[in-house]
Amino acid sequence: MDKFRIKGGRHLRGRVTISGAKNSALPCMAAALLTSETVILHNLPYVRDIITQRRLLEDIGATVLMPELRTHKITADNIELFEAPYELVKTMRASVLALGPLLARFGKARVSLPGGCAIGTRPIDLHLAGFEHLGAEVGLESGDVVARAPKPGGRLLGGELHFDKVTVTGTENLMMAATLAEGKTVLHNAAREPEIADLAELLNKMGARVRGAGTPTIQIEGVESLGGAEHTIIPDRIETGTFMVAAAITNGELEIKGCRPEHSAIVIAKLREVGVEIEELNQSTLYVRCCGSGLKASDVTTEPHPRFPTDMQAQYMALMTQARGRSVITETIFENRFMHASEMQRMGARIQIEGNTATVEGPTQLTGARVQASDLRASASLVLAGLAAKGETLIDRVYHIDRGYEKIEDKLCAVGADIERIRDSVTGPLTEGGIQNPESRSQKG
Ligand code: UD1
Repeated sequence: MDKFRIKGGRHLRGRVTISGAKNSALPCMAAALLTSETVILHNLPYVRDIITQRRLLEDIGATVLMPELRTHKITADNIELFEAPYELVKTMRASVLALGPLLARFGKARVSLPGGCAIGTRPIDLHLAGFEHLGAEVGLESGDVVARAPKPGGRLLGGELHFDKVTVTGTENLMMAATLAEGKTVLHNAAREPEIADLAELLNKMGARVRGAGTPTIQIEGVESLGGAEHTIIPDRIETGTFMVAAAITNGELEIKGCRPEHSAIVIAKLREVGVEIEELNQSTLYVRCCGSGLKASDVTTEPHPRFPTDMQAQYMALMTQARGRSVITETIFENRFMHASEMQRMGARIQIEGNTATVEGPTQLTGARVQASDLRASASLVLAGLAAKGETLIDRVYHIDRGYEKIEDKLCAVGADIERIRDSVTGPLTEGGIQNPESRSQKG
């Protein structure tokens, strides 16, 4: 498996351009299953999860053309298989996003239950309860979730449902399913992430009638069929946040282009509070640098959007190792999402974990060490820690980072980082774009 070797201590300087949001691209690709016409998506990030999602669509019977690296033309006019196979679902949990569209359009769908996961159990019970609420019969057959519409090949029935817990992909799955249901559906306590609004925009371009996406109440008037559409995926707010931290943790300065600052408002506010200087140069550009007087500690709690995102928790922890004072980081979304902490401790960080809180004492001079990436965002935090550390850091299992960050080492090198990918010739051939397809992967992020 590939590794990253980082020689820390360099101040990052220059410009970096943000890629499309993986977490928006995945549901938008699944939405193409709702129609027999062509859906054209631009600004897809070139990352492993998108390749996996493309394979899933192709396995199901869709045709996916790539006129350009970041553009997919998806036509699902010849669907024969109504299921997402275990081989793909086990590598990427977001494969469950195929359920809603398949069930809504064809009245049946089968998806393997996602397996165990390193950042908690992450069930899909809320997705399934939602489908049942729309009249589907949902059961488990040989480890697969099988869902059927009330009448064979028939439509789902609109209804009013309340999510007991805010779920991002659950909201997306139900929103997609409801577009083709009979009558009106109202989703209460829906997730409000920008990716939900982006998906709704695509669905409406396809002829759906979705209102309120981005608020806790989403209303969907079902229509009989949807058509083709063309859509550009929003920039990745987590990649934006990661580069903001990269500028701050290396005492550098970065111009971050092609982002949407309003999607990162809470992260920008938090980073300003701890002493990072952030200027909005225009609607899509941020200028970030660490202030001369250094960083100060501050507590943070992860919560659903618009509060502080769990996907930035690990990167924030890396930053707090460099801040003056004690910061308490509370993780409320996922259990077991502190695995990066023990790796940072090996680099000299002073972090204590108790239940769902991590207490970081700073600042510490981190020193390079051999560490292991455990999930997508944890890997990013170790890269950040490595950039700040004295000496050499070797990060193992970087396939996790390839799932969601487009060529992070190239982007970091371009702004002065000393980071290189060490290819592993033993694991087997590399696939498209040099992104490795490891034998065993897990499915976080
Ligand atoms: C999405 C994001 C992921 C992010 C997470 C939280 C994608 C592809 N991934 O993941 O990067 O970290 O949101 O912002 O968009 N839950 C249940 N039952 C369910 C569904 C969820 O109990 O049926 C729980 C989960 O275990 C978790 C919480 O709800 O504790 C939130 O999970 P959810 O928002 O569904 O995360 P994902 O959509 O998988």
